[in-house]
Amino acid sequence: MIHYNETQKTFYLNTNNTSYVFTVNEHSHLEHIYYGSKVEEFQNIEDFKIKYEFELGSSTSYSKEAKGYMLNNTLLELSTYGKGDYREPTLHIELPDGSRTLDFKYVSHKIIKDKHIKNMPQATKSQTLEIKLNSLEIDVFLYYTVYEEENIILRNLELINNFKEDITLDKALSFNLDMLNKEYTLTKLDGAWIKERHINDTYLTKGTIRFDSKKGVSSSDHNPFFILKEPQTLEDYGNCMGVGLIYSGNFEANIEINPQNLLRLNIGINSFDFRYTLSHQERFITPETVLTYSNKGLNKLSQNFHDFINNHIIKNKKERPILVNNWEATYFDFNQKKLLAIAKKAKKLGIELFCLDDGWFGRRNDDFSSLGDWYYNKKKLPRGVKGICDKINKLDLDFGIWVEPEMVNEDSDLYKEHPDWAIKTNHFTSSLGRNQLLLDLTNKDVTSYLKETLHKLFSSANIKYVKWDMNRNFSDIYSNNLQIKDQGKFAHLYVLGLYEILEYLTNTFPDILFESCSSGGNRFDMGMLYYMPQTWTSDNTDSYERALIQEGTSMIYPLSTISNHVSGDRSHQVLRHTPLESRFNVASFGILGYELDLSKLTKIDEFIIKNQIEFYKKHRALLQYGTFTRISSVRNKNHTIWMVTNKERDEALVLYFQDKALPNPSFETIRIPNLKEGNYKITSRTQYMNIRTTGSLVNHVLPIKLKVNGTLLNMIANRFKYKEDTFSKNYTSKQLQNCDLLLHHTFTGTGTNDKVMILPDYGSRIFHIKREQTQWN
Ligand code: GLA
Repeated sequence: MIHYNETQKTFYLNTNNTSYVFTVNEHSHLEHIYYGSKVEEFQNIEDFKIKYEFELGSSTSYSKEAKGYMLNNTLLELSTYGKGDYREPTLHIELPDGSRTLDFKYVSHKIIKDKHIKNMPQATKSQTLEIKLNSLEIDVFLYYTVYEEENIILRNLELINNFKEDITLDKALSFNLDMLNKEYTLTKLDGAWIKERHINDTYLTKGTIRFDSKKGVSSSDHNPFFILKEPQTLEDYGNCMGVGLIYSGNFEANIEINPQNLLRLNIGINSFDFRYTLSHQERFITPETVLTYSNKGLNKLSQNFHDFINNHIIKNKKERPILVNNWEATYFDFNQKKLLAIAKKAKKLGIELFCLDDGWFGRRNDDFSSLGDWYYNKKKLPRGVKGICDKINKLDLDFGIWVEPEMVNEDSDLYKEHPDWAIKTNHFTSSLGRNQLLLDLTNKDVTSYLKETLHKLFSSANIKYVKWDMNRNFSDIYSNNLQIKDQGKFAHLYVLGLYEILEYLTNTFPDILFESCSSGGNRFDMGMLYYMPQTWTSDNTDSYERALIQEGTSMIYPLSTISNHVSGDRSHQVLRHTPLESRFNVASFGILGYELDLSKLTKIDEFIIKNQIEFYKKHRALLQYGTFTRISSVRNKNHTIWMVTNKERDEALVLYFQDKALPNPSFETIRIPNLKEGNYKITSRTQYMNIRTTGSLVNHVLPIKLKVNGTLLNMIANRFKYKEDTFSKNYTSKQLQNCDLLLHHTFTGTGTNDKVMILPDYGSRIFHIKREQTQWN
């Protein structure tokens, strides 16, 4: 709810559990008062303003008349440099006379309905508060949208140049929030290729922590997102605040504490390498920022983001298919026969969609050529995309295809025809990333060409899924399509060019499910999710690494966006062996796929995968759209424990994933919180183990003695279904929450039966918890 208290000149933005309060002060600046747990309207607003009665030594007073009013010590909703505020400003603009001082003051406000931004990703909204501010010939509009259910405040700003001459934006961030520092710790999601979005905590001290992307994509170095948490905040306890940006390109975030211990936060388009000239009456709109607050710890904060993204960012809310992707199965080395063999087996196992990955087009047999040539390779696909698609459809599988449209190889027909479409400067040979160049998406000829080419491709067959990849970062930035004064717009215009293509294609093909990818998770952000509802989380599919990556990702992104694959043994990224059941257990929390040569499976693996798929289908709604809770993490303990609960809170799945097997471990329990009151049955998913896991111990169980790596044992191991322990208990919801669920003890080297959990390194279980209709006592 948005409420303006006329007497106080104060805005109250209330969600179900939070309040955001700011006021128009006596100098007509927007002064921040409060953001936190829900409060009643203040009767004493003046008592909450940070005020000096006298000028502070060595500081700049706003005016002769108001000596004690120093912008550097005022909590502001919008900030500029030049009138005594020395913190990172929201806006920095060069005026026609070369000066850069601005002072935005409140003019008016109104509520607008269904605000829509053209060609930009954005949240759906019904009512938005628009506040108009002015300084000289520039108007700024601050936008606030309130999402009561999800406890979200959405903010961004727009400005218009009313000068007759050009002005230049050197910095235009999306929002500004000032508050008192409460000994906050900053949580960021930092990473790199194959180790994306690891949770990283830093204690805040005086000064600025700035993190950004200059890579052209939001990047896996730092996600455009952060959390501030008060001391002692845990997953289910304490106060914390989250900030996320709906944008896919270069961004910056600043978290600053000034000498008076005032905290300033802002985020938006990166001001580095950004100079944006606006002509008379031209407007500039910044990407939207998503804010949330939780007084119930980090899980609630994440759940607020999850609900918001599912309800207001993502357009495709359908259950997602289980797919098989041929990349790690074949890489570039495939023909139609090989693909069909994989697809045939996939169908037998219960998989629903086959995705043809890189290598199907032009002369592409390695990653040196053909990006840009989006027509089929006759040697690999004799009857083209339609031919293979029809054959896949005949197997009763849907068909999907990989593309990387933003790129071109020098060795391609497209580059020969349009060398000027690739990004390069006039002075240097362009640096390459994965042997490829970027196309200039600021050029309308390029965007039109891509729309047309992809339209043709996507309508050429019964395509139900597209994996949209982007495998290199920016370099050699320059566009021969832009005027000299507009070169500083490049990075942002590239992103807008991409959004325009995506807007067109996703609207034209509403039935195609799009998944975005950028060497795995190099562009996992809310901007891409607006167009493509799921993202290839990481090229790393090792289950231990994935537990860390998916857990970090879950801090902001819901399970419905996190695409995971079960791949072969061993991991192609870290050469680690993890049990097939664990690869599934971790991958099943989100969107499930397989990425291994299914045509070469052993009988036992085939049997295991078939069971996994059956289980996933049965619980798909829960695993894709349920409420996700982090209970424990391998970052702090030896176990990752995740839980997903249905809306009614009467059914849940719990993942228990172990890091290292421990000798003679103690008994483990799991706290199962927040279930609806009642009696529950807890069972474990039926899992099977390869008897080779037990090494030479197998000879102590079998009646005959076999050579440990011998052919006979291998033959038996490839067929023998060794069922893991069967767990079945009855608890009440109160017992689950307070006494915790007691697990079977793990194998200790002395013997086993069906009540002993054999849990090797990276072993895991999934428990199913369901409310019983009947009373059992
Ligand atoms: C990227 C993707 C992979 C695969 C390859 C194909 O690395 O992340 O999943 O599609 O490209 O070249």
